[in-house]
Amino acid sequence: MSVTATASAAPATVTAVTATAFEALDSCHREVLKTLDELARLIDHLEDKGVDSEAQTLAADIVKFFNENGRQHHLDEERMIFPGLLASADAELVQHVQRLQQDHGWLEEDWLELEPQLEAISKGYSWYQLDGLRAALPVFKALYLDHIDLEESLIYPEAKKQMAAPADAGSGRDGAASRRRAKA
Ligand SMILES: [Fe+2]
Ligand SMILES: [Fe+2]
Repeated sequence: MSVTATASAAPATVTAVTATAFEALDSCHREVLKTLDELARLIDHLEDKGVDSEAQTLAADIVKFFNENGRQHHLDEERMIFPGLLASADAELVQHVQRLQQDHGWLEEDWLELEPQLEAISKGYSWYQLDGLRAALPVFKALYLDHIDLEESLIYPEAKKQMAAPADAGSGRDGAASRRRAKA
C-alpha cells in the first residue's frame, strides 16, 4: 500500500494521518515476515511434493507481495522517511539511513535472483533449483530482519520525533533545506 500521500506534510505534531502512515509501514513489516515464512514453507513443500496447485498458489502470492507491496514499501520509506533524516546534523543517524538505502538495493538484488524461479513455480514449471532456493532464503531473510530491526528501533522513532518537532525547531537555513528535501 502506498502511503506517499502524506510525504509532503510538515505538521507541528504527529497528525492522525502521519500516525496512520507509520502504522501502514509497521504492518508491511509484519507482512514481510509472514511472506518470508511462506517462502520457507514453499521450499519444504517443494521438497515433499514438488510443484502442485498449493505450491503454485504460494509462489504466486510471494511473487506478488515482493514485486508490489515490498517494492512500494521501500519507495515510501525513501520518499517519506529518509530525506528528513538524511538532512540531520547527527552523522551517525545519517550513516544508518545510508545503510538502509544500500540495504534496499541489496534486497532488490536478492529478490531478483529468487523471483524468476518462483514465477516459474507459480506457472507450474519445475526447473527451479531447490538447493539454490534453500541457500538463498537465509541470506534474504537475515538481511530483511536486520533491516526491519534498525528501522523499527531507531529510524521510525527518529522520523516520528522529527515530524513532531515544533515548527520553529527547524528554522533557519538547515530547516529550510530539510523542508525542501522533504517536499521533493
Ligand atoms: Fe526499508
Ligand atoms: Fe521498512
